[in-house]
Amino acid sequence: MNVQTSGFEPAPIPDLGNAPIPAKAYYDPEWFELERQAIFLRTWFPAGHVCELPEPGSFIRREFEFARASLLISRGKDGEIRAFHNVCTHRGTQLTDETEGKRNTFSCRYHMWTFGNDGNLLSAPDFEKFGLEKKDCALPRVACEVHGGLIFINFDKAPKQSLVEFLGPLAEGMSHLPCAHATNFSEYVYEIDANWKLTYDNFQENYHLRFIHPNTGKATFSAANPFGYPAAQELHDPHRTQTIWTNPDSASQMTATQMLGFGMGAKALLRGDVPENPFNRAYFAVFPSFFMLGSTGNNFSHTVYPIGPEKSRGVIRIYWINDDQTPGTRYAREFTLAVTRDVHSEDVAVIQAGQRGLASGALEHIYFQEQEVLCRHLYMMVAKAVEEYKVEQGLT
Ligand code: FES
Ligand SMILES: [Fe+2]
Repeated sequence: MNVQTSGFEPAPIPDLGNAPIPAKAYYDPEWFELERQAIFLRTWFPAGHVCELPEPGSFIRREFEFARASLLISRGKDGEIRAFHNVCTHRGTQLTDETEGKRNTFSCRYHMWTFGNDGNLLSAPDFEKFGLEKKDCALPRVACEVHGGLIFINFDKAPKQSLVEFLGPLAEGMSHLPCAHATNFSEYVYEIDANWKLTYDNFQENYHLRFIHPNTGKATFSAANPFGYPAAQELHDPHRTQTIWTNPDSASQMTATQMLGFGMGAKALLRGDVPENPFNRAYFAVFPSFFMLGSTGNNFSHTVYPIGPEKSRGVIRIYWINDDQTPGTRYAREFTLAVTRDVHSEDVAVIQAGQRGLASGALEHIYFQEQEVLCRHLYMMVAKAVEEYKVEQGLT
């Protein structure tokens, strides 16, 4: 990470050249299908946080349209967190519609096959008439690992890397963030008519800040760094990091409401047993479509779930340690989420307008400047994975 001094002295930006990027990658159904096979069905992907499974029997259900799958993620009696397909092994009925809860068993409503929260089949009416062994009828497992409090799943039946191996140099920093100790979070979920990369790229570049966020982005602008560019941008194939620039003049740029909110936020959120966090200005972008800010007062994460070539779902969370203990903490947390929503609402229309423009097929290519190097890197990592998959499958 770049150590920031007084003025704006950005670290050298990695040079990935300036080749135009094929526009089709952002709307074409055939390309999307290749991404699904080459990336999403074989990579570690965020699915939740350990605080959602506080005790044995706690479970969550998560939908992954890109895998056409519904998963149950549960904490067993032994404390272990496991992921299963939400699919009864008798004739395939989805076991539950509940999004979260606490259960020691899951019974299928169709013919009452009953499974433990470790996925094993416990009982089934007339089971002796099937000529089967119960041990062969467990719910299908999906690889599941935890790092820094975050639960990741992987649809690959035999993942080639452990989660920590996959995270590589990002793993260490991510284990020190407030998220690793979080006990709750604020969340909002949105659907957007846009490709997952177009959606995600919006949050990987500050080129648009001065135009789309002239007021809400003000706190990052100053004479030294008028466009709020990052202090550093680094590539760690297939991931990326940034160091967010700290504006020494930010207080003078804020509205009275922002001053009040951030003032209370700083006092309320930084008080107490929040651990030392050397990654306060770090931005971790985990391939393919998750990123998190390290900020103690705003440990913000955003996951973009592809739904189709031109539709995505975003899940935005801000992780907190301990319940709201004072009205000030409550206010600060609500305020932080409200600011996040405000800024995001400014982005949505322009992302969707981009999708409509691209989907018209009018453009062969799009372009990234050097300050959009993280967007270029994402495309390059995607194209590399697709290319490798095609070679592996004999599709070239
Ligand atoms: S389909 Fe689940 S018990 Fe028959
Ligand atoms: Fe934005």
